[in-house]
Amino acid sequence: MSKVIDGKHVSTIIRERIKKETADILANTGKKPMLAVIIVGEDPASLSYVRSKKKFAAEVGFDSETIQLPDTATEADILAHIDTFNQNPAVSGILVQLPLPKHIDEQKVISTIAVEKDVDGFHPEQVGGLSIGLNTLEPCTPAGIIELLHHYDIPVSGKHAVVIGRSNIVGKPIASLLLRLNATVTITHSRTAHLADITRQADILIVAIGKPHFLTADMVKTGAVVIDVGINRTEGGKLVGDVDDEGVFEKAAYLTPVPGGVGPMTIAMLLANTLKAFKRQSFA
Ligand code: GUN
Repeated sequence: MSKVIDGKHVSTIIRERIKKETADILANTGKKPMLAVIIVGEDPASLSYVRSKKKFAAEVGFDSETIQLPDTATEADILAHIDTFNQNPAVSGILVQLPLPKHIDEQKVISTIAVEKDVDGFHPEQVGGLSIGLNTLEPCTPAGIIELLHHYDIPVSGKHAVVIGRSNIVGKPIASLLLRLNATVTITHSRTAHLADITRQADILIVAIGKPHFLTADMVKTGAVVIDVGINRTEGGKLVGDVDDEGVFEKAAYLTPVPGGVGPMTIAMLLANTLKAFKRQSFA
């Protein structure tokens, strides 16, 4: 039977810490962080994420500005907005909500964001920095997962961590972070042969492939720590993760719920990155 990893609770602690530090900085300097968000198109999930980001930014005392562009926006439109935010010293962090429409070169957009304002940690320079162990702005979802492991005193060093999914947003960066913490890391993906034989070896299992209830109990070792990064909406409108939670709950030592596990941590770490970026730009 699993212990539930309560991401909602941990994210509240982190946001309270950020709120207090932001208030102290404002009292001492008259300055506060500002998060600029660009969203292109009308994808309901993206719109909902952006609303949450804005709401929580306000709650911790940040300024924020959101630019919403139609899905007919050109790459040049988006780059022009990024350039304006890059030049504006009041803007501490810039986030372009992904995915972008097909006609936009996502990598070009990400690479245009000033590295020091890239609070998603997706700029190639930051990806490289993460890989060689520099103190970068770390991608928010992976950084949130590491915070959860720390909060629950889950040992990582020497453990076998298996990651399912090789995305730039979660799979690859969480592998780098776990490796830095001395885990033995295996990255698996859609072409991996004998997947269950590998997942059954995992002490820590990170599932980030976007397939509802993909990870079943027979793929999990008894006592494993299972982190469910999936956010899938069923036809009935219910949110479910990538883990078949009912079955896995009986077998794992720890499990993150969906919703209320990894999701709230992503926003908390975005705010943490925005504060870190602000402090580096203002006081470094
Ligand atoms: N889309 C899904 N996750 C993310 C994220 O962490 N950042 C951005 N910018 N877009 C996303």
